[in-house]
Parts: sequence; structure tokens; C-alpha cells
Amino acid sequence: MELAPPTADECQVWRLPIGAEHWRDFDVLDEGERARHRRFRRSADRDRYQAAHVGVRLLLGHYLGVHPAELRFSRHCRHCGAGHGKPTVAYPATKWEFSVTHSGDWVAVAVASVPVGLDVQETTDGTDVVALSTAVLSPAELRWWRERPAEDARRAFFGYWARKEALLKATGHGLAVPMNTVTLSPPEEPARLVDWAADRPLDGPAQLSDLDAGPGYTAAVALLSPLPVRITRAELPLGVIAAAHTSAG
Ligand SMILES: CC(C)(COP(=O)(O)OP(=O)(O)OC[C@H]1O[C@@H](n2cnc3c(N)ncnc32)[C@H](O)[C@@H]1OP(=O)(O)O)[C@@H](O)C(=O)NCCC(=O)NCCS
Repeated sequence: MELAPPTADECQVWRLPIGAEHWRDFDVLDEGERARHRRFRRSADRDRYQAAHVGVRLLLGHYLGVHPAELRFSRHCRHCGAGHGKPTVAYPATKWEFSVTHSGDWVAVAVASVPVGLDVQETTDGTDVVALSTAVLSPAELRWWRERPAEDARRAFFGYWARKEALLKATGHGLAVPMNTVTLSPPEEPARLVDWAADRPLDGPAQLSDLDAGPGYTAAVALLSPLPVRITRAELPLGVIAAAHTSAG
């Protein structure tokens, strides 16, 4: 994929490399991000956070023609106003929206000109899917899921989960909308919203797509748009961004 901003009918998904060695030359985080980065106890969490936040700044700074450190983000929960909501670019003004996910060996960012949500789930992390099933799956989904053979059930559960989190990240509701109030098509079928029974609004027609994130992961992207949006995906060409960043001083 060429390193140019997404066209109006495109959603770009970039996978970002994890590990301090990739990012240490980019001193672009703001004070709040630095403080949060320092607070992680586990180095794996620290590394994923660094990849996500430095990567997003480099990519969006490149697209928007500003130094990555000059970008400002805003995060307000659309329900309680606290700072855990959907992140958006506050400066400079832009039509682009983005969504970040970090899970296991994955850190990725999606960029589009419509509301977008991206989610990757690690399926082998010891999560007790039976204990979580009634909170995540709607009654209709549960009926389907409980009939799955044991060997398929775990992956199917995480298939639903990634699709639902992608959707709730696109809307910005996050966990304020109980996942079991949303019904999606079964993971063996093309992803689609079947029923939205949440008491909070769905802001537009939702498009859902699964992404192949490899063994041990499920992944999905959600877009709120009445028009078809195609998804392109690639590894972030960090060298190209680094060269531009260095030459811009
Ligand atoms: C969005 C959420 C479901 C994703 O969690 P997750 O699958 O564990 O983690 P992921 O790595 O895939 O995604 C996390 C990223 O999603 C983004 N995000 C957080 N809240 C979001 C929201 N409401 N909408 C869209 N994106 C959100 C952030 O970029 C976050 O990364 P960061 O914290 O490093 O900036 C979860 O973080 C969340 O809902 N948090 C808010 C808590 C909440 O809603 N509380 C009740 C509201 S009153």
C-alpha cells in the first residue's frame, strides 16, 4: 500500500512493529502519554503502548503535514465526559478518524474519513469464555454459540468479540453499551449487524469486516457509512516515515 492518506472510499489498516528499538528515535509523545507509558508495569504493555501512540503520531503527522509532536488528541467519553472515550484529533483540524488496537503481538491503527473502529483479540490468553459468554453474547448469539463443537467455540466467541468491540469503538460507545445488547451474524458468516437493542443510539449504518490476523487472533473493522468503504492493509513502512520525519527536522 502506498503511503498516502486514505481516499474517501478507503479505510487503511496499518500494523505497527512492537519493541522500543523501532521507536526510540521518535521523541513525539506529550506529557500525558509519557506518564501513562511510564506507569505500565509489564514491559509488553509498555511496548504496545509506545508502538500505538508513537505510531499514530508519526502516521497522522505525516498525513496532516505537521510535526508528530504537534498533534493534539482529545478523549471525552460520550456518556460520562471522562477522559476514557474515543480518541479524536483535536489539532490540526481533519476529516480523518482513527482507531487503535493492541493485543498480544498486534498493534494496529485504522484510518478513514468516516467513523472507524478496529479491534484485534488474542484467542489464547486464558480468558474463560464460558464465564464471559452471557455478558458478551446476546440471547440469539448464545443459542447459536452453545451448539458449537468445543473446538470451534473459543474462536467463534472471540470472532464475535472482535466484531463487537470494533463496532463499539466506531460508535465511540465503548463498554458503555453492553455487548450482549448487540446481535451480529455468526462468525462463520460475513460480518453484519443483525440487531441493535442497546438503549443508546447507533449513529449510522454499520459495515463490519473480519480481518485475518493469523493463528491465535481474531480481528475486525467497523465503519459507520452508508457508502461502501474498501479496506486496505499493510505493515507501516516506518523507514519512509522516519526519512520524512528526519528531513523535516
Ligand atoms: C474501547 C474498549 C472497549 C477497547 O478495549 P480493548 O479491546 O481492551 O483494547 P484495544 O487495545 O483494542 O483498544 C484500546 C484503544 O481503544 C481506544 N478507545 C478507548 N475508548 C474508546 C471508545 N469509547 N471508543 C473508541 N475507541 C476507544 C483507545 O485508543 C484505546 O487505546 P489507548 O488507551 O492506548 O489510547 C475499552 O478500552 C473501553 O471501552 N474503554 C472505556 C471504558 C468505558 O467505556 N467505560 C464506561 C463508560 S462510562
